[in-house]
Amino acid sequence: MADPLISVAERLAPAFSHVAGRPCDPVVRPSERADAQANGALALAKELGVQPRDVAQKVLDAAGDLSDILASTEIAGPGFINLVFTDSFIAQQTADAMSSAQLGVRTSTDAHKIVVDYSAPNVAKEMHVGHLRSTVIGDALVRALSFVGHTVVRENHIGDWGTPFGMLIEHLIDLGEENAAHELGVGDLDGFYKQARGKFEGSDEFKTRARNRVVMLQGGDEETLALWRTLVKESTRYFNKVYSQLDVLLTDDDLMGESAYNDLLLPVVERLHTAGLLQESDGAEVVFPEGFTNRDNEPLPLIIRKGDGGYNYATSDLACVIDRVERIGARTLLYVVGSPQAQHLQMVEAVARMAGWLPENYVMNHVAFGSVLGSDRKMLKSRAGDTVKLASLLDEAVERATLAIAEKNPSMSHEDRAQVAHMIGIGAVKYSDLSTDRIKDYIFDWDRMLSFEGNTAPYLQYAHARICSIFRRAEIHRETVRSVVPTLADLKERALALRILRFDSATWEMIDTLSPHKMCTYLFDLASDFTSFYEHCSVLKAESEELKMSRLALCDATARVMEQGLALLGIRAPEQM
Ligand code: ARG
Repeated sequence: MADPLISVAERLAPAFSHVAGRPCDPVVRPSERADAQANGALALAKELGVQPRDVAQKVLDAAGDLSDILASTEIAGPGFINLVFTDSFIAQQTADAMSSAQLGVRTSTDAHKIVVDYSAPNVAKEMHVGHLRSTVIGDALVRALSFVGHTVVRENHIGDWGTPFGMLIEHLIDLGEENAAHELGVGDLDGFYKQARGKFEGSDEFKTRARNRVVMLQGGDEETLALWRTLVKESTRYFNKVYSQLDVLLTDDDLMGESAYNDLLLPVVERLHTAGLLQESDGAEVVFPEGFTNRDNEPLPLIIRKGDGGYNYATSDLACVIDRVERIGARTLLYVVGSPQAQHLQMVEAVARMAGWLPENYVMNHVAFGSVLGSDRKMLKSRAGDTVKLASLLDEAVERATLAIAEKNPSMSHEDRAQVAHMIGIGAVKYSDLSTDRIKDYIFDWDRMLSFEGNTAPYLQYAHARICSIFRRAEIHRETVRSVVPTLADLKERALALRILRFDSATWEMIDTLSPHKMCTYLFDLASDFTSFYEHCSVLKAESEELKMSRLALCDATARVMEQGLALLGIRAPEQM
């Protein structure tokens, strides 16, 4: 029950290994001319110093009878083996996949605990589009990793500690708690932060108060902590608004901000000291991980404790590693954080490994991503030149989707329209983020992301809704066709079935490369294959009742894979639109 390309690779592997005299990968890939091709003979021939076509022939001789799954094998070009599956194999695999809850997707053979660190906005600061990217990408990875059987722990490492809190708390006191809470509660986080910074820079008296306040905060003064809690509470209230609008999984239970590691900071210093890694540099306590240098080729330190005794961002990230490995018991740590923090995370990892906190077979992976650009190809900014307010951005997405649906489906009820518009508007924003390789920057373009054509969420959602409407029109319950083994007489039916079976590999490619865009590309191909099937093959007016049921089974399978695939991306699929 898997991608047929994997089944055939498994069947060919012994033959390849026999010819190679060692374990050898058949390198099975999709093909233009056949269903698949095995390319392994080329590299193997080079290694053995013989003709690739001869190697391919030897492999086929050794493989024996494959007629239960393959209708033909043909050696082509320099030595590829073209593979064509039998229709009955594809049909049966499709039916099997559809009778499994996972729709044919293999579960992990190495299920373990994974921490995904994502979203992580900063208290009393507006979430920016970088946090949007982290939130959307991280959430998709959480869903996909859980789907294949991992135990996933979400952690929202919000910036809720450090020196700026002195000035933020003093500003809160100046405003009066109620006024401040109101300002933060309506999401004017940036305004609040800027006012505080302005006072800090403009008044020595305020600066002194702010500095004293930091000391009180770190000393655990109850009144100060209460004020700090207000700041955190009002900010997270605003973050939660964005999360619920975005349909992401994050809740208050996932909050694991910098402040949560306070008690672990001193142990970090002590353990580094005991390990003999801590050094003094310019009055600060630092570690020099191997292989990191500055522009002048001098060793680059990771600062653990500053001269004034204060800890650093890096210190809490080291505490984080310890906590995730030792308390949570995670073996894979994922950090969905923008590319500019690459060196920071690499240095944290290097130090954690030197200290022995991250055993060799444990993975710490930076899931990096590029920037969101405006149409001018510069960092996306609001018209006034400020950071874009995410809550209003998402509201605008829903408004625009509402207009689009009103035009497309004027008869839809008000209530349905509101729900569907939410799924489409938010889906469009998320999909435009997820569908390009995350490492690249992407241009935020309302018209493109909300278009019903092309590689967009609305196009995929529409393919799904269209299938739902076929069943509605036929007044047939989708469940009734679920056990039907489709007949694959037409090439378009066959291509669609083969595509449905590739959901397995698409999911695994997304997971193995931590790249949601792989799933997007797959779903776009699925929708395209469905469209050409549907244009080519009559479903409700098929020549026979049997053919109709078979084609309805393909429709249902397409819709289920589409809905599940979108769900792995955190995008919902309405039944009508
Ligand atoms: N709060 C940070 C920021 O806004 C991101 C934190 C990412 N996670 C971490 N463990 N360092 O840039």
